Amino acid sequence: MALSPQQSDALRSKIAHRVRDLPGSATVAAADKARRLKAEGRSVVDLSGGDPDFSTAAHVTEAAVASLNRGFTHYTPSRGIPELLKAIADKLAKENGTSYEPAKEVLVTPGGKQALFTAAQALLDPGDEVIIFSPAWVSYAPVAALAGARVVYVPMDMQTTAEELRASLAGAISPHTKLAILNTPNNPTGQVWTAEQLQTLADAAQAHDFIVLADEIYEKILYDGVRHVSIASLPGMWERTLILNGLSKSHAMTGWRLGYIAGPEPLIAELLKVHQHSTTCATSFVQEAAVAALNGPQEYTEYMVSRYKARRDRLVADLNAIPGVRCDLPQGAFYVFPNIIGTGLSSLAFTERLLEAEAVVVTPGDAFGPAGVGFVRLSYADSDEALQEGARRIRRFVDGLSD
Ligand SMILES: Cc1ncc(COP(=O)(O)O)c(C=O)c1O
Repeated sequence: MALSPQQSDALRSKIAHRVRDLPGSATVAAADKARRLKAEGRSVVDLSGGDPDFSTAAHVTEAAVASLNRGFTHYTPSRGIPELLKAIADKLAKENGTSYEPAKEVLVTPGGKQALFTAAQALLDPGDEVIIFSPAWVSYAPVAALAGARVVYVPMDMQTTAEELRASLAGAISPHTKLAILNTPNNPTGQVWTAEQLQTLADAAQAHDFIVLADEIYEKILYDGVRHVSIASLPGMWERTLILNGLSKSHAMTGWRLGYIAGPEPLIAELLKVHQHSTTCATSFVQEAAVAALNGPQEYTEYMVSRYKARRDRLVADLNAIPGVRCDLPQGAFYVFPNIIGTGLSSLAFTERLLEAEAVVVTPGDAFGPAGVGFVRLSYADSDEALQEGARRIRRFVDGLSD
């Protein structure tokens, strides 16, 4: 129904201030724009999304179908089915060197994003401060703000030394610091934190008594022999870390919505209350499929990573060959985050004009916090053809700027 501008304004005024002031997700907006352009018949190259272009493995899909056919279509225990809680705890013990009791220290959520939201609601009071390392994934700051907390950004990229990190942490920490959100490998830069950098954060967390939420969703997407270390495995950190993870990226299962969070019982028990009142439980048959994904063969993940690596190498080379564009080689995840300052455009202008001129969808770096200004993010979780065509169009667009 068409509303008058006055009616719309009157309705909008009913919305809570903390929501009215909240920006929408830049990555979701970019993906929506790509869909709209495609529907209009334009030949769109959409490099905005964080969604693997690979199908979910057949044995996982079959497990879900079998589960549906058995009628496993009702509520499950709110925390998650025992088989999945055990599979997650086994994975964390085997791969990350961290020990969690399945029935008390693990919580299954519909996606990692929901785990983040639940943790923020459970931990944060208005006035609390949350340290976010920027560039950072677009949802951390809004989710902290929705809980009433204040975001304090700390710059962090591949060039940041442990010494610089220590100094900027010292400047950022206050008596109100409740939480730091760590994301390694990082979205959008692909940076993997070194042991020294992790230890620096661990020392600060212990000295100033704050919690670390470690988002490890890209832990399996690593290149060139770089290893992932879970901060929870460092001495004195298990008791102050929440591990966030999920199957979206590692198992190409974004649409299934399956994530989890693990940590000490006094924290997880409180998150569980938020989860009980907001979602009840993750989808029943998806949980059974997740058991198959975690306990079954893992070669498919290795295959996807080998494909991502070849795409990364080619895309970074293609981008660095464009005048005014400078792109570091990511160590993990499936994004590149080139600096486009040399083209003379801001991130937003670059993004909008590229879309208009060449129908290539990328995400403006500003969406990833203050350190993202002057950058754009491209996902290479897309076909080789799309990436090569995208790079060709970006080259043509930048060449056209100097005409
Ligand atoms: C850094 C990071 N964490 C968490 C998520 C959440 O993923 P999901 O909700 O699909 O599990 C994403 C998704 O893009 C991400 O990039």
